Amino acid sequence: MDPITPLNIDNLRDSLTGKIVGSAFHYHESLSSTMDETRRLALDGAAEGAVAIAEEQTKGRGRFSRVWVSPPGLNLTFSVLFRPEIAQLPYINMAAALAVCDVVNDLTDETASIKWPNDVRIGGKKLSGVLVETDLVGRELNHAVVGIGVNVNLDPSQHPEIAEIATSILAHSGHEVDRSDALRRLLTHVDRYYADIRNGASLKDLWASKLETLGKTIEVRWVDDVIEGFAESVDEQGNLLLRKADGDLMTVVAGEVTLQV
Ligand code: BTN
Repeated sequence: MDPITPLNIDNLRDSLTGKIVGSAFHYHESLSSTMDETRRLALDGAAEGAVAIAEEQTKGRGRFSRVWVSPPGLNLTFSVLFRPEIAQLPYINMAAALAVCDVVNDLTDETASIKWPNDVRIGGKKLSGVLVETDLVGRELNHAVVGIGVNVNLDPSQHPEIAEIATSILAHSGHEVDRSDALRRLLTHVDRYYADIRNGASLKDLWASKLETLGKTIEVRWVDDVIEGFAESVDEQGNLLLRKADGDLMTVVAGEVTLQV
């Protein structure tokens, strides 16, 4: 196997033109999870926009405490600290997925779509996952940590356990990608969306336009039940509005379901 080219964080610091995202970089060869490291930074009073990034996570996690598999040095695994208004929180999740779609657009000839709530996919295979963890005290939001994992130079065929369900930028660009450049693009897109959010913009319509889930009959695991319905639309918070066979419209909250499409 080729030796790993480490991320060039110094270069990144100099080349980022954004206002907030990338205000500080905390680069690690190995961490348990960038989510924990970013939370620690937040509790230490770090300014928003701080990024914790690791070449390897020993306990990378996804939604529902699933393991996030990412071989060292091939992909991007990082988290960003935000201190938004609580009403802006749903848009942060949307911003992360939209920014990944933009990077796919920058680096490949493909168009990525989003499987509700936040898997970015190409051709039905997962390219990226987004995990948002918040520190709430009552209705007060202390901070939000947005974790993004993107398969960049992963060759899925080399990893039988995910070969059928995962894809990467490499698989669609046909050549190895400069991860530092991919990260710079990604953070720049996130920063632009965050500026829009802070200016009062809603990202819901743009995000909804990329949701491959809408207009399909799907199954949703809800507590111990599996509910079937037609994915009609999403509300402003990003919740899914599911029309059931009996005609009822059910609001499915992103944090609580597993989709079976
Ligand atoms: C999912 O699809 O379930 C979300 C996956 C999120 C993975 C990223 S990788 C960087 C950050 N650190 C983690 O431990 N998880 C997120």
